[in-house]
Amino acid sequence: MKDSELIKKAKRARERAYAPYSKFKVGAALLAKSGKIYTGANVENATFGLTVCAERVAIFRAITNGEKYFVKIAVVVDKDEPVTPCGACRQVLSEFASNLKIICANLEGKTERYSLSELLPEAFEKFDKDPSTD
Ligand code: THU
Repeated sequence: MKDSELIKKAKRARERAYAPYSKFKVGAALLAKSGKIYTGANVENATFGLTVCAERVAIFRAITNGEKYFVKIAVVVDKDEPVTPCGACRQVLSEFASNLKIICANLEGKTERYSLSELLPEAFEKFDKDPSTD
């Protein structure tokens, strides 16, 4: 799966964002090792604090559909510069894919690439996450 295809899916997902408060729509597309792609968009709430970012929507959809291993995620915004996932999303992604590749893009096609371990060094890790024991 080419990065450009994943970005395209994230762009499409972005259109479904619910962001009436910030007006800042974000789309994400997560590629699982199975080859399936799980998309997400941010869903805001009148309380503000209950807002969920696009990246977490995507990974929660993937996990609850039985996925365990992930390759990369594309995140798309409409801004001059691409944005990187927020701290909360970094921590949640690291629970399942500590070395996930992250492709950040804007609508004009500008891209930046990172690894999750680079964006979240020394992530909090408390439990033995060996999936064979769950
Ligand atoms: N947001 C995301 O969906 N992902 C990010 O990586 C950064 C922020 C959302 C949350 C909120 O709905 C809006 O962007 C403004 O912060």
